[in-house]
Amino acid sequence: MTAQTPPPRTLIPPSAPFSPEQQAWLNGFFAAVLSADGAPAPLSEADNAALAPAAAPAAELADNDSAPWHDPSLPIDERMAMAEGRPPPLRLMAAMAQQDCGQCGYNCADYANALFLRKEERLTLCAPGGKETARMLKQLAAAIGASVAAPAVVAARPSAPAPTAEAGASRDNPGQARFLSRRRLNGAGSAKTTWHVELDLGAGGFDYVVGDSFGVFPRNHPALADHVIAALGADPRREVGGKTLREAMIADLSLGAAPDNLFQLLSYVLGGERRAKARALANGEDPDGDAATLDVLAALRKFEGARPDAEAVLEALDPLAPRLYSISSSPKANPGRVSLTVDTVRYRVGPRDRLGVASTYLSERVAPGEAVRAYVQKAHGFRLPDKPETPIVMIGPGTGVASFRAFLQERQALGARGGAWLFFGHQHRQHDFFYEDEFEAMRKSGALTRLSLAWSRDGAERFYVQDRMRQVGPELWRWLAEGAHVYVCGDAKRMAKDVERALVDIAAEHGARSTEDAVSFVGGLKKAGRYQADVY
Ligand SMILES: Cc1cc2nc3c(=O)[nH]c(=O)nc-3n(C[C@H](O)[C@H](O)[C@H](O)COP(=O)(O)OP(=O)(O)OC[C@H]3O[C@@H](n4cnc5c(N)ncnc54)[C@H](O)[C@@H]3O)c2cc1C
Ligand SMILES: NC(=O)c1ccc[n+]([C@@H]2O[C@H](COP(=O)([O-])OP(=O)(O)OC[C@H]3O[C@@H](n4cnc5c(N)ncnc54)[C@H](OP(=O)(O)O)[C@@H]3O)[C@@H](O)[C@H]2O)c1
Repeated sequence: MTAQTPPPRTLIPPSAPFSPEQQAWLNGFFAAVLSADGAPAPLSEADNAALAPAAAPAAELADNDSAPWHDPSLPIDERMAMAEGRPPPLRLMAAMAQQDCGQCGYNCADYANALFLRKEERLTLCAPGGKETARMLKQLAAAIGASVAAPAVVAARPSAPAPTAEAGASRDNPGQARFLSRRRLNGAGSAKTTWHVELDLGAGGFDYVVGDSFGVFPRNHPALADHVIAALGADPRREVGGKTLREAMIADLSLGAAPDNLFQLLSYVLGGERRAKARALANGEDPDGDAATLDVLAALRKFEGARPDAEAVLEALDPLAPRLYSISSSPKANPGRVSLTVDTVRYRVGPRDRLGVASTYLSERVAPGEAVRAYVQKAHGFRLPDKPETPIVMIGPGTGVASFRAFLQERQALGARGGAWLFFGHQHRQHDFFYEDEFEAMRKSGALTRLSLAWSRDGAERFYVQDRMRQVGPELWRWLAEGAHVYVCGDAKRMAKDVERALVDIAAEHGARSTEDAVSFVGGLKKAGRYQADVY
């Protein structure tokens, strides 16, 4: 084992729940992470100049209006370049994935502001941004002042519930739902495995309306936890923080992408070339070209025999974060229950299947009757129009249809008379037509006025919802002209952008506008709350 230099700074508050030895170790560990050795690439002069007065309370806070990078299809390098030299909260915001998905418990601007104002300490909450965002936030936080970055260590444990928040109402204070059932939505020949999942809300304190999402705290596959513990050579029954190491690995810690802190820890217990590689990985380099494939187990196996102390590993791992699922039911149609539409994430890397933790928990592991820790994530501006007679156009391929099943159930329960037009698409009509019977029944009852379908792989060429929208452009334009609200749900990276482009083209062609005017027309719809997106 390589000798450690004494910690130069105290980064762990004395009140943190660690023994003096752990405090000393953690101070050394994280001082090293923040030192020149472990620090990410230096920021530019312009950035440093902008970041230096970070402690000044008068700095401009982030909001969407002052954020030209607020576009989830832009890569992080472009976003950071756009924000260069801007005040710290804006640069912190540019590091986020720009999806406003709510998984961190905020929208992007609010998360950035909370970090800047030190109301939030956790730097690893941006799930869609992943390690890129976490690294950039660490870099920015280090430049703003180590005091922002340091408490992130302590926050690598589940945070205490806010005393006033009702259970089930927030990420920090989840309630308990009960798993009822799952039913596969695809036919046997589908390439996809998507499930309709039902949960009983019981007395969990959950209060939702259509458009909201359900936050689920998953549990890791026990076999994965066992493999990680075996790779550490640790005793699964060892007690850590009031539970066994095995239970902590299953319930509390992310076993997905190996965090930089794990590589940093490994570098301390390795020597020679292996130490240099672990350190390079901790710095975001990719010495062997396999960095993207290294989950926690693969990282430990790569450095087989390293055997860091299990408790130190627990500190180095990220907490297991909840995942959000668009709610696919209306409380008016299903009081006391919630349903979700969950696509199973499962892919292979080398000899081992990798499992999406929450999607496989819901679709394969949790058993009927078992408790599920969960909360309702209120939507940021994804709501049905106030007036039930206002027409709505819903565009939701794949699991994006979830919220629209909820919208339609709600409108049906209300007896709403406004037109409702759904664009749904997936790979094959025969296998992937989710909720076909229900939509057919809603068509008959009048709750669904029009259904337009796009099967991407049934023809010789890919055909998507936006292609169908273009085909029916004149009617779609008429609906818009009559005041319809437009909703988009599903893929943020490509689909949402392509759908917006189609709408711009339709406005230009059928509304007799220049492209520029059509862009401002769609911008106007957004400002008026008539174009709302729930994308991930
Ligand atoms: C507001 C919101 C609403 C959502 N609604 C829904 C919904 O209705 N239904 C739904 O199914 N999901 C929905 N999601 C997505 C959901 O939250 C999860 O992100 C998704 O289920 C994956 O989580 P997981 O824990 O199963 O996978 P994770 O353990 O988080 O793993 C996912 C990661 O695995 C990697 N990965 C995935 N596939 C591959 C591959 N083929 N090759 C290599 N790497 C890969 C990627 O890095 C990916 O980020 C929503 C997300 C948000 C933010
Ligand atoms: N941002 C993300 O990382 C992201 C986004 C969406 C979904 N997901 C994850 O992927 C899993 C499955 O998602 P899903 O069931 O909703 O299906 P999906 O993968 O989004 O596919 C649904 C349909 O959309 C089509 N599609 C692909 N590109 C498109 C585009 N640019 N514009 C319009 N349609 C397009 C697909 O066609 P083809 O397959 O034939 O191309 C398919 O027919 C979930 O776990 C979800 O979390 C991740």
